Amino acid sequence: MRIPVDIAATGERAAAMLEALGAISQSSDNLTRFFLTPEHRRAADLVGDFMRAAGLDVSEDALGTVRGHWQPAGPDAPRLLIGSHIDTVANAGKYDGTMGVVVALLALEAVVKAGLKRPYGIDVLAFGDEEGTRFPTTLSTSAAAAGHFLPSWLGARDADGLSLDEAIRAYGKDPAAIPAAAYDPDKVIAYVEAHIEQGPVLEAEGEPLGIVSAIAGASRLSITVTGEAGHAGTVPMRMRRDAFAGAAEMALVAEKIARADRHGMVATVGRLHVEPGSVNVIPSRVVFTLDLRSGSDISRREALTEFEREAHRIADARGLGVVISAFHEVGTVPCYRDLQLRLRNAVADLGHRAPTLPSGAGHDGQAMSRLCPIGMLFVRCRGGISHNPAEYAAREDIGLAVAALVRFIERFELPQLTGSVQGAEQ
Ligand code: GLV
Ligand code: MN
Ligand code: MN
Repeated sequence: MRIPVDIAATGERAAAMLEALGAISQSSDNLTRFFLTPEHRRAADLVGDFMRAAGLDVSEDALGTVRGHWQPAGPDAPRLLIGSHIDTVANAGKYDGTMGVVVALLALEAVVKAGLKRPYGIDVLAFGDEEGTRFPTTLSTSAAAAGHFLPSWLGARDADGLSLDEAIRAYGKDPAAIPAAAYDPDKVIAYVEAHIEQGPVLEAEGEPLGIVSAIAGASRLSITVTGEAGHAGTVPMRMRRDAFAGAAEMALVAEKIARADRHGMVATVGRLHVEPGSVNVIPSRVVFTLDLRSGSDISRREALTEFEREAHRIADARGLGVVISAFHEVGTVPCYRDLQLRLRNAVADLGHRAPTLPSGAGHDGQAMSRLCPIGMLFVRCRGGISHNPAEYAAREDIGLAVAALVRFIERFELPQLTGSVQGAEQ
């Protein structure tokens, strides 16, 4: 059966849905939608409405992940999972994550309408904690679905001091029900996600869609540097223990380590808090984050060791204290070869080449890979820009992504995947 998809019309519908979701923000100036906020609630409700309109049954788990179910073979049949996330970074674009949810539910709508019969079901998942921007618990919602949620995460606190446990309760959910969010690994066939590329490769190659070979591993550290507060006007430079100056030197060391790496390592200091934070007081305490990623886990681990050694050397030389703690650590995850092939065939069916490329950005697939094989479809985005309000993917390309998922599902007759788990290149 070849299910009809009007690519242009579908792209228009996706754009309208993305506009509606993109308008749900904590800020009147930009799009900011963090995990378990009232805006997350509103976006989840709208996604639920979209899912119901697409002919799916809707449920929500204890972490607020919205699940749209298509169950042609009953609720106990194995299932294919397709999804992405609806949380955003601060001052975000409209497409990161949300586009993958919209693409998945429009694809499934076409499948439902066509009356396709399958011996398995499909769930569309809208996760809420992919970015890790509110709590230091990146990927907690997909980890819960994969059965790997760590109870210790409930004690993590946001910038206002609210714990994850408290935020879940304020959202109207019960933390005790988190284990029930886990899928039975024997009942899950695979997890597939469509996502904007967030990089420039597809645009440079003139291709609307790409196939992900692997998702780069990542480490996130919190570094606390302690010195001594003092009068900015009276303490001579040689007698200072300036926590910020030490932190700045450490940040530059991280940059130097990443630049010297041959595996495309990237290092980012994205958050920095200076105390006491007065114009005329020498900083006594600085807390900053380091996000370090590489397609090579060996390089990433070596870089972490080198950074820690250098940070201590800098602290000692400046008479400062330094404490480094890791709050997120995920290895490079290969996409399943069989799924890469199936996705590439689906795109080829639409007359496109679908180059293979690695993902430098993190995705829910990293957590889902502990449950089942994963596959990812990338959609070209303008200028490779992401985590920025200028983020943009063309309607036509989004419509093509929907059509590619429909072709993928159409041919996905056997729940058995074959071949190696290894990605093409890493
Ligand atoms: C998520 O977008 C990440 O890679 O940080
Ligand atoms: Mn994302
Ligand atoms: Mn993101």
